Amino acid sequence: MTILKINSSITGENSVSRLVTDRIVDQLRSADPDAQLIERDLVADPLGHFTLASFNDQDVLDQFLASDTIVIGAPMYNFALPTQLKAWIDRILIAGKTFRYTPEGPEGLAGGRRVIIALSRGGFYEEGSPMEHLETYLRGVFNFIGIEPEFVAADGLAIGPEQRDASIRQALGETIRVAA
Ligand SMILES: Cc1cc2nc3c(=O)[nH]c(=O)nc-3n(C[C@H](O)[C@H](O)[C@H](O)COP(=O)(O)O)c2cc1C
Repeated sequence: MTILKINSSITGENSVSRLVTDRIVDQLRSADPDAQLIERDLVADPLGHFTLASFNDQDVLDQFLASDTIVIGAPMYNFALPTQLKAWIDRILIAGKTFRYTPEGPEGLAGGRRVIIALSRGGFYEEGSPMEHLETYLRGVFNFIGIEPEFVAADGLAIGPEQRDASIRQALGETIRVAA
């Protein structure tokens, strides 16, 4: 199995999404010690904004398609995903490679791999909240290319230290279920 770990938090050692992606990968590797791990840190090594020329750069797409399990750290900044992560998504949504349009509508071509997303958010968002553009966007994008993503969420992180600790504990506990 090949695991691809993607991180996009700008908060360094204080990052909750990085803590949770690390734990998910630890759990996956203890279940499969032979798993190969590839890491891409989109903050330490950022991709540029997506341009026409980016279509010639197949590296991100090839790395994604070569992976069986993709673990993504997705912090909420300003109600959406970090621009670093958007630049990565822009390079994997490629017509003819990960989706195609048919007379019956769009068809995802990237199924058969697992995507596990560690969400970290300062607040709590009810289903259908008009300000929630992180989980809804990522679910839509991965569904579009044929994948049902799994989520581990740490929410309410900005409410106060007790809530933050409880949310982190709960998310780390969830990683056991996800990796099982
Ligand atoms: C620049 C910035 C913008 C943020 N914007 C939001 C926001 O719009 N909504 C929210 O619920 N939390 C927001 N937060 C809180 C983060 O989602 C929270 O701190 C989370 O832990 C970030 O993930 P990380 O710890 O992996 O960086 C923001 C945090 C930062 C640093």
